[in-house]
Amino acid sequence: MAIREILEVPDSRLKTVSTPVEKFDDELKVLVEDMFETMYDANGIGLAAIQVGVPLRVLVIDLQPEDPDAEPEECTAHGGHSHTHQPLKKEPRIFINPEILDPADEFNVYQEGCLSVPDIYADVERPKTCRVRWKDLEGTVHLEEMEGLMATCIQHEMDHLEGILFIEHLSRLKRNMALKKLEKLRKAA
Ligand code: NI
Repeated sequence: MAIREILEVPDSRLKTVSTPVEKFDDELKVLVEDMFETMYDANGIGLAAIQVGVPLRVLVIDLQPEDPDAEPEECTAHGGHSHTHQPLKKEPRIFINPEILDPADEFNVYQEGCLSVPDIYADVERPKTCRVRWKDLEGTVHLEEMEGLMATCIQHEMDHLEGILFIEHLSRLKRNMALKKLEKLRKAA
């Protein structure tokens, strides 16, 4: 496994329309493993293959819910005062050649971010629910109704497969403000 470099705006490769996976082989398994490692390392909840420069229709998602069965962990990382965190439960999901079916007419607004647009967050409106059809690593087809954060996240990741970033859902004014802020943050770093 290896952590791969995450492409960031304005890298033009992020505008690539990704192509369907045809070979369900070991190379695909390595790609998916690397994508998980890269996403966890960057504290993301979703990653599309094109974000590591591979133009294939492959997504990984892990919404990492808090684990109700785990013991809370003592934490002194933030400024010395100790408090507890509920540990996160890993829930890795793999979507190969995903398709969105019947997006709802009703919309939901979530504050989105993206590993390719670091430190920028903005409200985006998307269909509240959708059905998703995809293949797993063996090429078996799955179908599931998605709602809540999963519906939002998978639609965000599906956009990457079409070369679209979440900031393109914003007004031009808001998008330009976001990109300027990113430029400033980069200069300061
Ligand atoms: Ni993204």
